[in-house]
Amino acid sequence: MDVKFLPLAMDLNLGQKTGEGNFVSIDLRSCDLEFGFKSLRTDIPFLDLVRPHLELEEELVSVFRRSLRNADFIGGKMVEVFQHEFAAFCGTLYCTGVGSGTDGLRLALKAAGISAGDIVVTVPNTFIATTEAISQVGAITDFVDVLETTLTMDAQKLNEYLETRCSFDKSGRLIHRGKGRPVRALIPVHLYGQPADMDPLLELARKYRLLVIEDACQAHGAQYFSTREKAWKTAGSFGDAAAFSFYPGKNLGACGEAGAVTTNDKALAERVGMLANHGQSRKYYHDVEGSNSRLDAIQAGILSVKLKHLHQWNQKRRECAALYDRLLGKAPGVVLPYVGPRLRPVFHLYVIRTRRRDALKNHLQRHGVTTGLHYPLPLHLQKSYRGMNFRPGSFPVAETAAARILSLPMGPTLTKDQIEYISDIIFRFMST
Ligand SMILES: Cc1ncc(COP(=O)(O)O)c(C=O)c1O
Repeated sequence: MDVKFLPLAMDLNLGQKTGEGNFVSIDLRSCDLEFGFKSLRTDIPFLDLVRPHLELEEELVSVFRRSLRNADFIGGKMVEVFQHEFAAFCGTLYCTGVGSGTDGLRLALKAAGISAGDIVVTVPNTFIATTEAISQVGAITDFVDVLETTLTMDAQKLNEYLETRCSFDKSGRLIHRGKGRPVRALIPVHLYGQPADMDPLLELARKYRLLVIEDACQAHGAQYFSTREKAWKTAGSFGDAAAFSFYPGKNLGACGEAGAVTTNDKALAERVGMLANHGQSRKYYHDVEGSNSRLDAIQAGILSVKLKHLHQWNQKRRECAALYDRLLGKAPGVVLPYVGPRLRPVFHLYVIRTRRRDALKNHLQRHGVTTGLHYPLPLHLQKSYRGMNFRPGSFPVAETAAARILSLPMGPTLTKDQIEYISDIIFRFMST
C-alpha cells in the first residue's frame, strides 16, 4: 500500500476556491484504485491563491479600512511608502508605481525615449505583454534566441545579431541594415523567476549604446552574481529601468492589477510617474500627453503588507524547487530547471522539460494535478505577429522548449506531501 496519499489529503485546505478556478478539496466520490486500495483522491491546484491571503486577512482588510477612512484611493501615503519599500527591496534608488506590468514596460520604454520606428530586441519565449509594450510605443520588436539552460536571452546570439545585422551610421546610430531602422534597446526577460545572464548583456548594451529595460515581471527578488561588480544583485537593478507586475499570481501580487518601474535614474522615474498620470507636471498642466496608469492606493497598501513576507515566500519556493529537484533528479527523460552558481532564482514557476509533455500533462490532470504551459507557442509564431514573417525554425531553442515545457504546481503553500505525490506520479509515468 502506498501511504503517500493520506498525509496529502490531511494537509489540504478544504473547499477553498483558488485563483485558477480549482477547488482544493477532498472528493470522497472519486476513488483511486491504482494502488489496489480505495485511497482518497485529492486535487492539487496549479497555484493556491487563497491560503496566503487568508493568513493575512486582518492586515489586508485593515488596509481597505484605512483607505475608506482617509478617502485615500489614488496616490497618497500608501503609494509613497510602497514605492520606497520596493525600491529598497530591489536595491534601486527609485520605484514608480503604475497600473500593471505591461504599462510598466510601456512607460519605461517611453520614458527612456524609445519612440516610433525604433527597434527593441527581446526574446520570443515570453508573455506577449513584453512585445505589446514595444508595439504600444510605436517601436518594432526583433527577437534573439535564448540559452538552452535557463531559457533567458543568449548573449552570444545577441552579439551575433548586433555584429552581423547592424552597423553604426555616420551619426553614430546603430542601424539594423535590413530594416533600415535604429536599434535602441534590449528587453531581457527574467523568465520563471530566473535572472537573465546580465553581465554579458550589459557589456553588449554598453558597446552598442543600447538601453536596457528588464522585464522583471516574474522575478521579484531573483538574484544574479555580477562578476563585474563582484556582488549579488537583485532583478530590477541591472538596467536603465525594469518593469514589475503585481498581478495576483506573481511572487508579490496585489489583490487586483498593479505594476511598478524601478530605476536609479531620477529623471526617468519622474517621467514614468508623469506619463502614468496624464503627463501632468502639476494638476491640469500637461507637459506631454500621457495616460492613466496610476498605482491604486489600496493595492499599494496591500503590497506593503505582503512585501514583508516576500523573502520568506521566495525561500519557501526555493525549498519546494529543491525537493522537486531531489525527487525528480533521476526521473527518465525529465530535464529539471537549471540553476547555475551565479543564479538565485525565485521560482515564480517550476518548469520541467520532457518530450512526452502532453501525455504527462494529461496523466497528471487525471490524477488531480493541474499544471501550466508558459508558453505553448513562441511569440514569433503567434497569429498576431504573422506580419513579422518569422517561420518555424527561426528560434530553435525557444521553439523546442515550447514543445517540452511543463510548469508544475508551485507556491509558498505547496506542501512536502503534495510535491512527493506529484513527483511520484511523474516518476512512475516517465519510467514506463
Ligand atoms: C514576463 C511578463 N511580462 C509582462 C507581464 C505583464 O504584467 P501585467 O499582467 O501586470 O500587465 C507579465 C505578466 O504576466 C509577464 O509574465
